[in-house]
Amino acid sequence: MTAPNIDTIVSLAKRRGFVFPSSEIYGGLGSAWDYGPLGVELANNIKQAWWRWLVYERDDIEGVDSSIILNRLVWKYSGHEATFHDPLVDCRECKSRMRADKLEGYFPEGGGQFDANERLRDGLVKCSECGSTNLTDERYFNMMFRTRLGALADEDDPTALAYLRPETAQGIFINFLNVQTAMRRKLPFGIAQVGKSFRNEVTPGNFILRTREFEQMEMEYFVKPDAEHFKLVDEWVTLYLEWFKGLGIDTANLKLHEVPKGELAHYSKRTVDIMYRYFPERAEEERQWEELMGIAYRTDFDLRSHSSKPTDEEGKRVNSDSTEDLSYFDESTKQRFYPHVIEPAAGVNRTVLAVLMDAYSEKTNDKGEMRVILKLSPQLAPIKAAILPLAKNKPEIVGMAKAIKRSLQPVLRAVYDDTGGIGKLYARQDEIGTPFCVTVDHQSLEDEAVTVRDRDTWEQERVKVSDLAEHLQKRLKPYPIPAPEVS
Ligand code: GAP
Repeated sequence: MTAPNIDTIVSLAKRRGFVFPSSEIYGGLGSAWDYGPLGVELANNIKQAWWRWLVYERDDIEGVDSSIILNRLVWKYSGHEATFHDPLVDCRECKSRMRADKLEGYFPEGGGQFDANERLRDGLVKCSECGSTNLTDERYFNMMFRTRLGALADEDDPTALAYLRPETAQGIFINFLNVQTAMRRKLPFGIAQVGKSFRNEVTPGNFILRTREFEQMEMEYFVKPDAEHFKLVDEWVTLYLEWFKGLGIDTANLKLHEVPKGELAHYSKRTVDIMYRYFPERAEEERQWEELMGIAYRTDFDLRSHSSKPTDEEGKRVNSDSTEDLSYFDESTKQRFYPHVIEPAAGVNRTVLAVLMDAYSEKTNDKGEMRVILKLSPQLAPIKAAILPLAKNKPEIVGMAKAIKRSLQPVLRAVYDDTGGIGKLYARQDEIGTPFCVTVDHQSLEDEAVTVRDRDTWEQERVKVSDLAEHLQKRLKPYPIPAPEVS
């Protein structure tokens, strides 16, 4: 079972401390969300799982953490200043403002060159809100957030202009040579980065699916110019499908989308999107899916455009500002070239949402009451074990439960909770996806044993306190869980 719709997750996320609407006490801020105590753990676990998978478990990928605000020239030569914009239209009937290229009828069937405004005026494009074809011409709107560097900079001083990065990728490209030389890397190798990106989206919405501030997990994999680039895209698609499966996402809720040529980003020769079924409630199957991540073949576009040497047909430098040549010298062939790039780019927030939707399930207890169980993969669960005293007015039981919590903490994330009756406590832990509840009862004081309850089966077993850490670790073993830091 998966969540019936995103709204079910929005309400659970707020109720249980995963995600809150941002700036709520001031009326909110459109499409901005804050991660609460459990949301930050879930997102961190996803990022850690990704980092471990690529940077630690493979031998060919390094990690970096570059600045969010980069020299403006980075965005000039990456092409973002000129082309990172969305076409925007207004509906004259219902007054909605929308991204034109997401509307039915915008692209001609069969692809090819087309004049969007001609199609809009001919009534071929439909408003997504009311279905009207009475739409304005499209206008372009650059999605990069602007800021000014320097406290005294003038509003329109072009030398002070800077942007918040709209992708983490450029921080990798401009560091290609630094990483390659410092780490003595030979092709093929990759550089991974996880961090915030910002886009002034025309139509943010659907909870954390499309926001103006979000997090990306991007990896640029550098290969030779004669590598089988399209095949490498397929290989990374397969690897990521497996990775998502390992995070607990049902493959029935994932599908591939080959981005048509006319819709490719300016740097891409081929992009395959992995889509997730974020809208299972929609009747039309086609409308149930949205991009979870994309895997693009970016050619040598970025390294070449950031390099000082390449010239145009007239022999003029294409980049007159760069001080470096980001080419690579291949010792084996004695050739110098610009490496080509395969880029798997995933969103942290969209992964969080997909993981939450896929983990959602309902179960009826023996009293006929419906309970929500978040069947999160234990590696992602914010809390691995909750230690619950059966009687909170018994100091010996409370003391023992607290001591067990403290003894488990160096090995796995554990919490102590006595804020309700045992039934309520179990239900709360099920709803936040805690794989194990450990109950300390009167008997525990005598036999030094506790009850371990399984989240998914609700089965219970008695375990000696001295064996508890090992018992839980054994059951969590199939899921690589980083030990939390000991404070
Ligand atoms: N460097 C390539 C790149 O940025 P993208 O397809 O624009 O490619 C990669 O972004 C991923 O980042 C998307 O698949 C999505 O998961 C996430 N993403 C992009 N825009 C987003 C937004 N406004 N809100 C949330 N996630 C977003």
